[in-house]
Amino acid sequence: MKTIIANWKMNAGVRESVALARGTLLTLRGRVVAPELVICPAFVGLSEVHKVVARSSVSLGAQDVFWEEQGAYTGAVSGRMLTELGVEYVIVGHSERRQTFGETDEQIAKKVALVRSHSMTPIVCVGETRAERDQGLARERVQAQVLSALGEVRLRGREQLMMAYEPVWAIGTGETPDVAEVVQMHEFVRQLVQEVVGETETGSIRVLYGGSVDGENAYQFLREPEIDGVLVGSASVKLNQFKDIVKAAADVLESQFSSSV
Ligand code: PGA
Repeated sequence: MKTIIANWKMNAGVRESVALARGTLLTLRGRVVAPELVICPAFVGLSEVHKVVARSSVSLGAQDVFWEEQGAYTGAVSGRMLTELGVEYVIVGHSERRQTFGETDEQIAKKVALVRSHSMTPIVCVGETRAERDQGLARERVQAQVLSALGEVRLRGREQLMMAYEPVWAIGTGETPDVAEVVQMHEFVRQLVQEVVGETETGSIRVLYGGSVDGENAYQFLREPEIDGVLVGSASVKLNQFKDIVKAAADVLESQFSSSV
């Protein structure tokens, strides 16, 4: 399977989110083989978008959550509030949260735990900055982020875990790493995660790529067996782009299907 996460960031209010959700559903119309889609509106759009996707194969995700259950935390949104709205996935540790909001590895680990305790699937973002990459420290940084985010995690039963490798320098810049580099980093992350969480079932750990994915380059990432999907930011709010990304995933799935029969 291939998974596409649409991270709308702070780009759509309620009305726009509803329209985008409807448009996103249309990208699947008529497809027999389709990728798994998760759309992540801003908090304010979750309730209305849930109504749009409720009877479809599309799942709802949130862009963040707070790690406490309830209380005097002005402006924060809890896990229970999200599950009440039908949220199944939560992006945790996005680089914009780390950089703009100062989130630390420790806080991210608490969020991962909170998300799992509400039976939602965390989409844990990791990735090096340009400076770390230039110093040859990309793997080290990614390893540190994975270990601190997942140190306490042991997967249970059919529980899923999504990792998104998102080099910070590739987010919103139009620049992407070579596909071969992404594949290597995914192998590294997958192995590391398997060691840490003691994965028992195949497929319970999915590793996605994120950073300037668009309609043009999606196919080259998605056709790699090591890349389980993509996390899309700016191109997810441009429906003509997003349609091409969904098509790229469907083409890959169809070609896998026809070569296996
Ligand atoms: P981008 O964002 O696709 O706009 O680069 C990706 C992300 O922030 O997850």
